[in-house]
Amino acid sequence: MMETQMNTRDAATQGAFSATPFSQAHTWAEPSGALTLRGWLAHLARTGRLATIDRSVSLEHELAAVAKRLDGTQAAFFTQPGGLDVPVVSGFMSKRSWIAEAMGVEEHALLGRFRDAADAPIASQRVARGEAACQQIVHTDAIDLHALLPIPTHSEHDNGPYITAGLVIARNPRTGVQNVSINRIQVHGRDRMAILLLPRHLYAFQKAAEANGDALDVAIAIGVDPLTMLASQAITPIDHDELEIAGALQGAPLPVAQCVTNSVYVPAFAEIVIEGRILPNVREPEGPFGEFPKYYSAKEAREVIEVTAVTHRRDPIFHTIVPAEMEHLLLGGIPREATLLAHLQRSHPGVKDVHLSVGGVCRYHLWIQFDKKREGEAKNVILCAFGAHYDIKQVVVVDTDVDVHDPAEIEWAIATRFQADRDLVVIEGAQGSPLDPSTTVGQPDDAPPHLQGVSAKMGLDATRPIVYPAHVFTRVRIPGEDTVDLETLVAADNTAFDAYLARRHD
Ligand SMILES: Cc1cc2nc3c(=O)[nH]c(=O)nc-3n(C[C@H](O)[C@H](O)[C@H](O)COP(=O)(O)O)c2cc1C
Repeated sequence: MMETQMNTRDAATQGAFSATPFSQAHTWAEPSGALTLRGWLAHLARTGRLATIDRSVSLEHELAAVAKRLDGTQAAFFTQPGGLDVPVVSGFMSKRSWIAEAMGVEEHALLGRFRDAADAPIASQRVARGEAACQQIVHTDAIDLHALLPIPTHSEHDNGPYITAGLVIARNPRTGVQNVSINRIQVHGRDRMAILLLPRHLYAFQKAAEANGDALDVAIAIGVDPLTMLASQAITPIDHDELEIAGALQGAPLPVAQCVTNSVYVPAFAEIVIEGRILPNVREPEGPFGEFPKYYSAKEAREVIEVTAVTHRRDPIFHTIVPAEMEHLLLGGIPREATLLAHLQRSHPGVKDVHLSVGGVCRYHLWIQFDKKREGEAKNVILCAFGAHYDIKQVVVVDTDVDVHDPAEIEWAIATRFQADRDLVVIEGAQGSPLDPSTTVGQPDDAPPHLQGVSAKMGLDATRPIVYPAHVFTRVRIPGEDTVDLETLVAADNTAFDAYLARRHD
């Protein structure tokens, strides 16, 4: 990182160039624990869950290969990626239990805690522009992202370096309310990037701005705490600022600061912020890129961000998510599960728990635990789930004695309670995930967006009948199997068996 580079300012020591003056030093005390990226990484390191790669590693594939190997066991911290002195971290949210820990709850309470936060957001607290940690160093001219930041190229056929863990923050041009999402961003020029906007809120903002011939101001915050990362994935109605959900998850207002070149507010303790504008009526090629279904998205013309500033902490840390690995899957999966559970329970209070399976890339296959009271209800639940999110492609409904977090239990329920001619629901020609490669079969290579992602939906009612002859559907159990005290009963000593044999021969 070239702090002395021309046109680069140390915000704390060189004063302001905007209406709000920079102060001598930011007065905001750094929160600890999971409330900042640094606090969380220190916690992981103390508990043996952070691997430090203290040697030069290539940004092209090598870094992602190491992070992928460690995914789900340890976060990877690279001190010298691509010869730059900006470290890269990856995989610090790659286990469900770690995410629960960051939220301060047991795993079974994860969805409820997330939902409570989404239902009761806390307004952010504004820090004066320039006082925020993320604005200690400011670059506004002659920006060269490749020289400033260690941006990895992840998968074999990716079309170059990608930012994969940036929170993209923008304001609704109609209402001014902010939105946060993570979007893949290909850095294809010194200060130019192409972004994938699937049809949700950021896409709607961009369309609204473009209709007036305007650019859409954006900020990309890289290196934020686990709870803010998670909040970015909340599925909310439009005009709900996910940074306020981050505040609710943290239990206190999130400190935010206004960008130096636009009016967007960003998390004050972000490591790095890229400021820019999505240009109207400009599209440039993006992709191929290895995506969460573990296949490549094709090269297509995408919206373009022109960079106006890069701000960062004095010794910033860059975060990259290895696509399709657990950090990516869980980040999208857990907030979706919380939203899907709430959606289903609104119409079907008997729904007890849900799980987006890892095999279904935490997006496509939904398992639902349901306390069925009347025959036929499981099929209503299936239909409700299909309507909850277009990504849902397969639904399995099971009874309350089946653990929806255990794939073997789900398979057992299908094997023993489901009959395809009676319990299968198939919906043809619905909208699915445009990133599911099976939706492309029979389509021309250049199918326009409105024809992409057409998918069948499959629902399996794997619940047992409410009334059945004695023991036909009674699950085999042995009285005492859950409660016997093995510690007392089983000899701790490996020689006990030999001692037994010796006694026999006496
Ligand atoms: C690692 C990661 C990468 C993602 N990449 C994209 C992307 O490239 N484009 C996109 O539209 N959504 C992407 N998403 C999903 C959105 O961030 C997510 O659906 C978000 O909730 C959308 O926000 P919104 O509904 O407020 O617009 C990604 C999610 C994750 C976790």
